Amino acid sequence: MATADLGKKPQQRRRRSGGGQYQRSLYQIAKAINSTRVSGEVPQALLRGAAEAMGAKGSSLLLLNPERDQFLHIAAHGVSETFLRKGPLRVDDMLVKLLAGEAVAVEDAQSDPHVQYPDELKKEKIRSFLSVPLRLWDEVIGMLRVYTTRPRTYPPEAIEFLSAVADLGAVALENAKAYEALQQEVDDTRQELLTWYAERRAAQENPKKPVRFAHPSEEEFARLLDFYKIRWDYEPRSFPLVWVGDRIVEMFTPDFYLIDHDQYIELTTLKQSLTTRKNRKLRHLRELHPEINIRLLYRRDYNKILAKYGYAPLGEVGAETPGRIVFTEAEIKDRVAALGRAITEDYAQSPPVLIGVLKGVAPFLNDLMRHINLLVEVDYLAISPFGGEMPGGVHFLLDASLDLRGRHVLLVEDIIDTGMTLRYIIEHLHRREPTSLEVCVLLDKRARRLLESPLRYVGFEAPDEFLVGYGLDYHERYRNLPFIAIVNPAELAAPVGAKQAS
Ligand code: IMP
Ligand code: MG
Repeated sequence: MATADLGKKPQQRRRRSGGGQYQRSLYQIAKAINSTRVSGEVPQALLRGAAEAMGAKGSSLLLLNPERDQFLHIAAHGVSETFLRKGPLRVDDMLVKLLAGEAVAVEDAQSDPHVQYPDELKKEKIRSFLSVPLRLWDEVIGMLRVYTTRPRTYPPEAIEFLSAVADLGAVALENAKAYEALQQEVDDTRQELLTWYAERRAAQENPKKPVRFAHPSEEEFARLLDFYKIRWDYEPRSFPLVWVGDRIVEMFTPDFYLIDHDQYIELTTLKQSLTTRKNRKLRHLRELHPEINIRLLYRRDYNKILAKYGYAPLGEVGAETPGRIVFTEAEIKDRVAALGRAITEDYAQSPPVLIGVLKGVAPFLNDLMRHINLLVEVDYLAISPFGGEMPGGVHFLLDASLDLRGRHVLLVEDIIDTGMTLRYIIEHLHRREPTSLEVCVLLDKRARRLLESPLRYVGFEAPDEFLVGYGLDYHERYRNLPFIAIVNPAELAAPVGAKQAS
């Protein structure tokens, strides 16, 4: 029989060979589909395979519209463009069976009164067709259809075969779509990396258009911003202040612009007596450009920022002394208890995870948690201090180990000064997808805020001084004081003799 078969057209040969041939065809279709990653190529592999295996003239793939009342052609094989353009198929009494997962056959379109578009079928010389649902998971999303030129009946194995092809196709379509999405993601990531490398290379090749700082304090300040990974520009813009005719005769050029925070910063290291002129200029600038955010840092502000990191302004380390008490032990105790009550009330329905920022928060959080009458969980994090030998800027020395996803998180801090530390921590915690994130801080040193963040609970408004005690340190000292005091720098510290006498 082999010789006789060879003389026949492939279509006939396949049709006659029955179930075994369907299996082979299915294998080939699966292979063809699986070898493409492009969703657009899946239908062609599917349609060609189905039509050939069933000895059909052509085939088509139709998808249901979102309203699920029409099938629309999305791809076809072996039928004309005109036929495809005839229009969508209504979900009628016959096609509704497909939605229920059944195959639908029209054995002879000429004698079947139900067929839609009978004239177009006739022109295309289609006499019979078989449709099977295209299913994804449990849902019918469309149909696969084969057309033949003669009237025909469809045995169960033919229906099974076409259904298997449809199932295979639906999954392949979905996979290809997912693959394309994945590919897109990979491409995006690669693009980001390339940009990052390019930027880094550019930065290395011409190291940050060597900024010429007008004053060493500006350079120091830039280093501080770099540490907190706050992007800045140095003197990026000049604002005209005074004109004579068309001529600008006076300008204001703020020192820094914090790119991500739309914040200008003017550092003035001049003596206090010389700042009057600068103040006037700044007022003028604010009048002319009320839309710009600008913050003036005086020398004393600046010194205090540096003092916090252990730089000179407070004098030689060890020569300073704790000075005037700002908050007594009793005051702190009362206030912490009140904060605990407020938290207990606000979080009664959904106890929070308390996250303390080490090390300064230790006494505060220890006391606070004992005034919260809820089943709270407690965790800690710690970030690297500025000014150490640690390269790479701010980073976490310790991260909260609890799963914060879907939790109500209450971040507990000792003191907020410029707000740079807090901002860095908040951005990090947001990435861990808590349901809510609020801040509780014992001391709010508003006076020198550079970056604002909402503070839900505040213990005290702190004076613009360097404070120690109740967790706060100067060079790791004084954390254990039960009160909070201002630090007296070396030159104000009581003479050694007096100290001994007391
Ligand atoms: P910020 O990033 O400028 O808000 O600084 C916050 C951190 O600086 C706090 O967590 C403290 O560790 C430290 N800090 C700020 N002000 C003081 C202070 O007066 N005494 C001791 N540490 C301070
Ligand atoms: Mg701190």
